[in-house]
Amino acid sequence: MELVPLTSADEVARVGADIVEELVRRRPDAVLGLATGSTPLATYQELIARHQRGEGPAWGGVTTFNLDEYVGLPAGHEQSYLATIRRELTDPLGIDPARVHGPDPAEAGLPTAGERYEAAIAATGGVALQVLGIGTNGHLAFNEQGSSLGSPTRIKTLTEQTRRDNARFFGSPDEVPMHVLTQGIGTILRARHLVLIATGAGKAAAVAAAVEGPVSASCPASVLQLHPHATVLVDAAAAARLERLDYYAEVYAAKPVWQRH
Ligand code: F6R
Repeated sequence: MELVPLTSADEVARVGADIVEELVRRRPDAVLGLATGSTPLATYQELIARHQRGEGPAWGGVTTFNLDEYVGLPAGHEQSYLATIRRELTDPLGIDPARVHGPDPAEAGLPTAGERYEAAIAATGGVALQVLGIGTNGHLAFNEQGSSLGSPTRIKTLTEQTRRDNARFFGSPDEVPMHVLTQGIGTILRARHLVLIATGAGKAAAVAAAVEGPVSASCPASVLQLHPHATVLVDAAAAARLERLDYYAEVYAAKPVWQRH
């Protein structure tokens, strides 16, 4: 795992955007895995700003898969993750909506939604780069504490803490759906490069547990330690509880130029 200690959330966004663009320049038909939530928004805004200035790569051949989706929202609800990712990233980049995917939360199809999503990802050859956030409780996508480390895409029940954390997007915690469809931890581990983004003091404990704690279902994000190519981008506040921070900074400063992210 590479821990990249950056000073500010803006710098995290710039480096996050560099990593995504570098892949899309190399592979214009890249398959991207996308997180929603607040954290990646600054990176997405940076990508959009570069695109609008004509500095970005060509986005037309990119395919995307969201990490997760709420179950039980009315169709087309503005807080559905598919609507969110289109609004916040893929529409502004000009990616055809037909290339933008999320787990299907329609009630009638729920028993097979996970399987169908796994098949859709596999049919593209798999996710090349997966953008991830981390919950304050260490959740990864919506794999809450205790989730199987080998899990596939499936329906999950959100914890009260996650519903409270996400209430800012809704009127109140009661309006946050109980259920979600989420890529499993096994699904996420199949992506070829994981890029976890964490900013702000509220994520410091979860980042420390994920990066320096034991690999455990009690901190689903700790599975990044098992992945052959995982990059963690943190600002100073999110890095504050890392014991080996000085070493990560030395490693990053001494990184050979030929070694890409
Ligand atoms: C979102 C997702 C979640 C978030 C996490 C952090 O697709 O899968 O795991 O990444 O809840 O959310 P924010 O970034 O809003 O703090």
